[in-house]
Amino acid sequence: MKRILISLFITLPLLACSQEKPNLKEKYAEYFLIGATINQQDYQIIDKDEKILKIVAEDFNSVTPENSMKWMHSHPEYSKYTFSNAQKITDFAKDNDMYLLGHTLVWHNQVPEYVLEINDKAKFNLHLKNHIFQLVTRFKGKVDMWDVVNEALNDDGALRETVFLEMIGDDYIEKAFQYANDSDPNVELAYNDYNLWKPKKRKGAIQIINSLKEKGIRIDAVGIQAHWDLHFPSIKEIEETIVDLAATGVDVMITELDITVIPNPYELAGIAREEFKKFEGNKKWDPYQSGIPNNIQKKLSKRYKEIFELFVKHHDKISRVTFWGTTDKYTWRNENPIRGRTDYPLLFNRLYNKKPAYFELLDIDPSNIK
Ligand code: XIL
Repeated sequence: MKRILISLFITLPLLACSQEKPNLKEKYAEYFLIGATINQQDYQIIDKDEKILKIVAEDFNSVTPENSMKWMHSHPEYSKYTFSNAQKITDFAKDNDMYLLGHTLVWHNQVPEYVLEINDKAKFNLHLKNHIFQLVTRFKGKVDMWDVVNEALNDDGALRETVFLEMIGDDYIEKAFQYANDSDPNVELAYNDYNLWKPKKRKGAIQIINSLKEKGIRIDAVGIQAHWDLHFPSIKEIEETIVDLAATGVDVMITELDITVIPNPYELAGIAREEFKKFEGNKKWDPYQSGIPNNIQKKLSKRYKEIFELFVKHHDKISRVTFWGTTDKYTWRNENPIRGRTDYPLLFNRLYNKKPAYFELLDIDPSNIK
C-alpha cells in the first residue's frame, strides 16, 4: 500500500506547479487510498463500458471487484471455478498500479445453491477450506487484501445464523482466517460489516477481532461498509465507530461508501427480498426519477464534505476509503432493497460527469481540520 502512496506523493509537487486541480487520489494521497468498485454481474462493465474504466483509472488508486470474486461467480459449481471476470479486473488493477481487494471469501449472500445442500459437516468444512485455498492462491501476489469474512453479525452483535455457523460452528470465522493465512501469509486479511455505528454490533465486531488476536490468528484490518444516507449515522456515531475499531490495533477502512438520497423502508430491514416487490413503481419510494433536486444535491455535497473532513481528521487510523461504485447509473442502490429506482449516492452522475460532491471533496482544506 505504501508503494502507491509514495509514487503519488512524488507527482504532487508537479501538480502544485501546474495549478491544475488534483484528482481524488492525488488530493488524498497523503491520507489514505481512494477506491472504487468495478462491477461485472449486472452490466459486464469490465467488457462493455470503457468510460467506467477511464474514471476508475484516473481518480482511484484502489479497486474492489463488486461481484466477480464472490462465491456464486468464482465457484459456481462444486468442482468448477470461473475466474475470467475476476482476472480482467486483476489485470486492470495491475496495469494501473492499483491496490486490489479480494471481495469476499465467506459471506452468506451470493452463495450458490449447491453449498446450501452439502449436508455433511466434515465435507462442508473441507469444501470451505478448498474454496479459500483456491481463491487466495489463484490471486496470490495480485490481491493485496482479502475481505475474509463479510457480514457475520446481526445488529444485536450476535453471530448471524448462516450456513457457515450451522455447518462449522462458532469457530467458523477463526477457521476462515486461518485457512486464508495458510494459503497466503503475505496477503492482508480483513473482517467487513455494515451498521458498525450501532454500538451492539460494533461490540460484536470488536469481539471478533480481539478473539482472533488472542488466539494468535492474524487479522490486519476491519472494514466499515458505509452504506449511509443523508442523515444517519451522525458524524459523532461515525467518529465513535472509527475510534473504537482502531483501538483494537487493526487498520480501519471505509470499504463500501455510498450515500442514498431517496427514502428507504429501514423499518423493514431483514424482510425477504420478494416482499419489497410491492413497493416497486411507487413514487413515494422513488421520488427523483427525473433528476436530483438542487437542494438534495447540495445536501449530498455537504454530507460528503462532513464525512471526508472526519476521515481526514482520523487519517492516522484509516488506510483506505472505497466508494461502492463510480456513477449513479450503475449503483447497486438503484436495485436494493427495492428494484428499479433512481438513486444518486455517488460522485459521478448518469452521464459520467463529476457531481458537485466530487468538487466539494477537492475543496476540503485539510489544514483547517483538527
Ligand atoms: C452488492 C453488489 O453491489 C450488487 O451488484 C449485487 O447484486 C449484490 O451485492 N455489502 C457487500 C457487497 O459486502 O458485496 C454488496 O454488493 C453490497 C452490500
